[in-house]
Amino acid sequence: MNASPPFDIIRAADHEAMSQAAAARLVAQLRRKPDSLLILATGNTPERAYQLLAERGRAEPGLCDRLCILKLDEWGGLSMDDPATCEVALRRTLVGPLGIGPDRFSGWHSTPADIEAECRRIRQWLAEHGPADLCVLGLGLNGHLGFNEPGDHLQPGPHRARLSSESKQHTMLDQARGQPGYGLTLGLRDILQSREILLLVSGVQKAPQLRRLLQPEITPQFPASFLWLHAAVTVCCDVAALPVNPADSSRPAADLPASSIIRQALH
Ligand code: GLP
Repeated sequence: MNASPPFDIIRAADHEAMSQAAAARLVAQLRRKPDSLLILATGNTPERAYQLLAERGRAEPGLCDRLCILKLDEWGGLSMDDPATCEVALRRTLVGPLGIGPDRFSGWHSTPADIEAECRRIRQWLAEHGPADLCVLGLGLNGHLGFNEPGDHLQPGPHRARLSSESKQHTMLDQARGQPGYGLTLGLRDILQSREILLLVSGVQKAPQLRRLLQPEITPQFPASFLWLHAAVTVCCDVAALPVNPADSSRPAADLPASSIIRQALH
């Protein structure tokens, strides 16, 4: 008998509605616990949600005054100010607009002189400040989480990763001034120790990966499948990534009202 995925699924009409739902989830988290530690992925999927959170934070004094951010991953070998870095993305969307100082924004240096020492530094930081209250993740086209790439085994802690061919073609790198030589990422244990996880998935190109994630098979060849081991995962997606009827996958999301957010508890 097939097990149902242990995820809450919020399915929104399109990327904008998904971003609004994700931002609302982040706002609720910060109202409940203003000093939350958030582990944040970057990439195209969460960008708009972070912009919406920053807008809400500026409009609601106190909401974002105590939150702490840890950067999930980074392109190793790009300079910190390279426009393609996760660092620049988080500074542009959240850290800058909310005026978050270095005491509340931590994460990988993108060109560490000693990579192993950098991994130890992040591990130590998490031991002192973690676990995260909420970890926001994107889903890689090959099922990766952060730079936990598919392979024969996965690593539990902060580590240097060999970039997959899919990662090397990520659109974030379209604007890069150089080529990253490796990835720097939190490991699966770091992610799974987060109290809650919010996975954002958008677009028809992610539909096969999301469909696979909903299958009860945990394998390092599809790192996102390890989310089955966590008890508090919310998948926030759009209709393109999770068609109401899989046969409808070509149906334009614009057919649906922008406000139609369907909450499905599948467990
Ligand atoms: C990138 C990053 C991930 C990100 C993922 C999805 O390579 N390493 O942290 O979540 O791929 O990116 P996107 O949302 O642009 O599809």
